[in-house]
Amino acid sequence: MANDDQFKKVISHAKEYGYVFQSSEIYDGLSAVYDYAQNGAELKKNIRDYWWKAMVQMNDNIVGIDSAIFMHPTIWKASGHVDAFNDPLIDNKDSKKRYRADVLIEDYCAKIEAKIDKEVKKAEKRFGDAFNKAEFISTNPRVVGYQEKINEILSRMGKSLEAEDLLDVKALIEELEIADPLTGSRNWTDVKQFNLMFGTKLGASAEHAMDLYLRPETAQGIFVNFLNVQKTGRMKIPFGIAQTGKAFRNEIVARQFIFRMREFEQMEMQFFIKPGTQKEWFEYWKETRMKWHNSLGLGEDNYRFHDHEKLAHYADAATDIEFKFPFGFKELEGIHSRTDFDLKQHEAFSGKKLQYFDHEDNASYTPYVLETSIGLDRMFLAVFSNALVEEELDNNTTRTVLKLPAVLAPVKAAILPLVKKDGLPDIAKQIVEDLKWDFNVDYDEKDAVGRRYRRQDANGTPFCITVDHDTLEDNTVTIRHRDTMEQKRVKITDLKNIIKAEVDVKHWLQKMK
Ligand code: GAP
Repeated sequence: MANDDQFKKVISHAKEYGYVFQSSEIYDGLSAVYDYAQNGAELKKNIRDYWWKAMVQMNDNIVGIDSAIFMHPTIWKASGHVDAFNDPLIDNKDSKKRYRADVLIEDYCAKIEAKIDKEVKKAEKRFGDAFNKAEFISTNPRVVGYQEKINEILSRMGKSLEAEDLLDVKALIEELEIADPLTGSRNWTDVKQFNLMFGTKLGASAEHAMDLYLRPETAQGIFVNFLNVQKTGRMKIPFGIAQTGKAFRNEIVARQFIFRMREFEQMEMQFFIKPGTQKEWFEYWKETRMKWHNSLGLGEDNYRFHDHEKLAHYADAATDIEFKFPFGFKELEGIHSRTDFDLKQHEAFSGKKLQYFDHEDNASYTPYVLETSIGLDRMFLAVFSNALVEEELDNNTTRTVLKLPAVLAPVKAAILPLVKKDGLPDIAKQIVEDLKWDFNVDYDEKDAVGRRYRRQDANGTPFCITVDHDTLEDNTVTIRHRDTMEQKRVKITDLKNIIKAEVDVKHWLQKMK
């Protein structure tokens, strides 16, 4: 399936099966704002829990907090967001459409990358089993040429953005002959910076109201609580503070569904370390976070690191974990070595000391910080788009199946009475009553059982449990596995353990070891 088609399918499937709805849909929607529906809210919660367990519960030296969205406005001055949290924007004079200049350039590079993919696929076909992808990519002159061109463009863009040389960013767009994706026009304005924070007001009367911002990242709530947590939790460096929560950005390029939203959720962890140890912790968290991703089995080839050329105003090293979304490799998570920038800034702006007393060294210092920051909605999109497949079956039919990792699936099992009579629904409902203490389960009695299986496949439910007339005789049921469609006869009393073995967080997180 072409990537565009696949992405359209993802969006319509997410709506049809109660995962994601456009916000305010009956009022024609609100751009780049989405609501999570009955299944989506469960999937999102399960991803959040999976992250929280891996980061907080499994690490003795990491604790979690939940700080407020509203924060003192000086925090955003101190953090640099008021002055530097900008996107470079460019307008097309003919279409009057506004774009992010860096995204136009990145999309241009993505097209070159698609050419590389095409060459690789062609060669794969030609050489069959003897094909060595890594060797081909590093030696084929055409592919090497494409890659060099991408590197050259991105490096120049990075340098120009770093140096705030917006004239060169425009020159690059013109040299590459990048056109408005909607109209093909190349009549561009200059590139300008645009601040992404949403402003709001606190207070009852207009004259006395205080200007506030909706937080654009959750990280600052951790920094300003650093000393409170360290003291009350008697935390010793190295230690981490994690939190999940909403963040808001006035994104201009508001497309790609839940990939880039104006209101979204982050899962962030700030790891406080001794100055000078940041390189080793950077490597540690790169590896650890990649292991977390790989534990979910979305395919190791679907991830890659992308080291930053242009560093954010607070970082001395940074990398993105990119995921292969239906529209290509894009940032899913950021790992940043933030130095002591944030704590020092908050010390300077608040006038309060934010230092750590190291008993071993008998000295105080401002800790350095290693950050891991992942968008929950992006992780949702990664998991969901990767899971949606159309399978050809032996009998020449196809089935749509959402192969979500069982640990994340919203509904773990559907209990289906074969027919709506002879006491089968009562037994099925009793199974629901017993299992719901441990798992989110569904009862479904409508339509023929084959159609119910298909419906649960498309919904991502890992198990279907069918109660039939034999159940009346021997207290056994059929359990059907979503991915293999294999069916087994098992005792009702064994159901809990069979399901637990596959959906239990421990079973999945142990793969990180
Ligand atoms: N505290 C660091 C920070 O906020 P970031 O790279 O700007 O870094 C971290 O954001 C992650 O948040 C990104 O990797 C992405 O997954 C997610 N994210 C950022 N902007 C987003 C948006 N507009 N919509 C959805 N997710 C977003």
